[in-house]
Amino acid sequence: MAEGQQNPLERLAAMKEKAQQGGGAERMEAQRAKGKLSARERIDLLLDPGSFEELGMLVTHRSNLFGLDKKHFLGDGVVTGYGTVQGRLVYVFSQDFTVLGGSLAEAHAEKICRVMDLALDNGAPVIGLNDSGGARIQEGVVSLGGYADIFHRNVQASGVVPQISAILGPCAGGAVYSPALTDFILMTEGTSYMFVTGPNVVKTVTHEDVTAEELGGARTHATKSGVAHLTAPHEVAAIDRIKELLGYLPQNCEETPVSQPYEDGDEARPGLDTIIPENAQQPYDVRDIVKELVDGGDFMELQSDYAANIVVGFGRMGGRSIGVVANQPSVLAGVLDIGASTKAARFVRTCDAFNVPLLVLEDVPGFLPGTDQEWNGIITNGAKLLYAFSEATVPRITVITRKAYGGAYDVMNSKHIGADLNFAWPTAEIAVMGAKGAAEIIFRKDIAAAQDPSAKLAEKEAEYAELFAHPYRAAARGYVDEVIVPSNTRSRLLRGFAMLENKAVRRPRRKHGNMPL
Ligand code: HXC
Repeated sequence: MAEGQQNPLERLAAMKEKAQQGGGAERMEAQRAKGKLSARERIDLLLDPGSFEELGMLVTHRSNLFGLDKKHFLGDGVVTGYGTVQGRLVYVFSQDFTVLGGSLAEAHAEKICRVMDLALDNGAPVIGLNDSGGARIQEGVVSLGGYADIFHRNVQASGVVPQISAILGPCAGGAVYSPALTDFILMTEGTSYMFVTGPNVVKTVTHEDVTAEELGGARTHATKSGVAHLTAPHEVAAIDRIKELLGYLPQNCEETPVSQPYEDGDEARPGLDTIIPENAQQPYDVRDIVKELVDGGDFMELQSDYAANIVVGFGRMGGRSIGVVANQPSVLAGVLDIGASTKAARFVRTCDAFNVPLLVLEDVPGFLPGTDQEWNGIITNGAKLLYAFSEATVPRITVITRKAYGGAYDVMNSKHIGADLNFAWPTAEIAVMGAKGAAEIIFRKDIAAAQDPSAKLAEKEAEYAELFAHPYRAAARGYVDEVIVPSNTRSRLLRGFAMLENKAVRRPRRKHGNMPL
């Protein structure tokens, strides 16, 4: 070796060390001061120890504009590769905010596209650890093209492999649209933001004064927009939640989720016999029922603070992953509105795409009336839920615990739209509407003509309730398969889902349905 020439192994080691430094120690310290980890530390937390195989560590950007010729960062601001989580293969990319704000341009995008292509070819989930200022401004249209390349792959991978996005820093512009095309978005509280345009642009265009946190912090997206499925107080908790989520999902749409070992035990749940209040107008928390029904009471709720009048999330029954959709009587009486319909529709489609059977708990007084709902499109949005259930081919079981009124009876996974089993508790009321409302409409003239209109109303209400405020008319028609004792619900569900385990539905060939979006 000539004098001054570096030994090849030393040269490689030096390059690797440089790549690991990202944007440098000072920038990293600034990130740490905000409570953030480095891109590599995040990967280390996510993957099984020693399983990470990096790809493209030595890639650099190709632009010389705006001084970029003097700033070359090995890896171009994103760490990409594959590894395992609890022994199962996943592909991962982790953006490094210390390198040009984690901004995305040609090389950075190519690295992400590469792992997405591998994930699609090999049928394994893609996990994006996002921390990016969006399109790299210095690289112009090349950055926009890079985003579009990723968006296109997000869509090609949609419904084929699970895609999970963790938002771990300020994500702007294109950095929010790729996550929006994935299956799940998780945000850290206080350190992550998502917005298409930041507070400064908002101020210029709409003259609104808003902080980054108010505009697009975790709380905002968990409560107001519904963009975030999950939030976590810090990055370690966030990454734990990703692992938990993966446990409910298969590797790809051709597989079923991995089952956990399960031994039959005492499946009676006596607490359920008294859980419905005697007064039908009184609320209860449906999550108490869900926890009685799923294995070990373990329920991973998604979007818990958004459209809380419906509850969605994952649990297990007999060791197998299931998706739960449940009306929540303790919020707005469990009514279906625009938010609840779109939230549940999205979840139903996610479960259906990834072979997760559905359990529906129904207690719904109907759709929410009013100008706000009508003018904002409850017709189209409510139809999304109807569409999602109707097209789902996974095993689907409904339990009507109390009210199943009006169109909501049809929508909430009725047998008419393809539910496989429909059970009702003796407290179920299955009718076009509640007895009082029904009596007021159909006996309006009788009531008006009566000497004592309120006594007449009470009499007609009781008449209607006697005829419809129970599950037996629906059971007589076979719309309800069986009226069951609540404490037996878990064992009935275990048997029902076991019976449906090999369900296979063939649909007629078409390009795709035309869901009302
Ligand atoms: C190049 C960027 C950058 C970007 C940040 N940086 N965003 N460099 N392109 N998009 C650089 C900064 O210049 C800075 O470099 C470093 O990253 C850290 O940024 P700060 O602003 O100091 O950080 P912070 O205060 O935490 O603010 C983060 C931020 C802000 C909110 C993300 O940087 C910001 O608003 N960036 C621009 C966001 C944006 O408008 N992106 C383009 C969107 S258009 P130095 O060297 O000074 O430390 C888009 C189109 C896609 O993405 C199409 C979608 C359909």
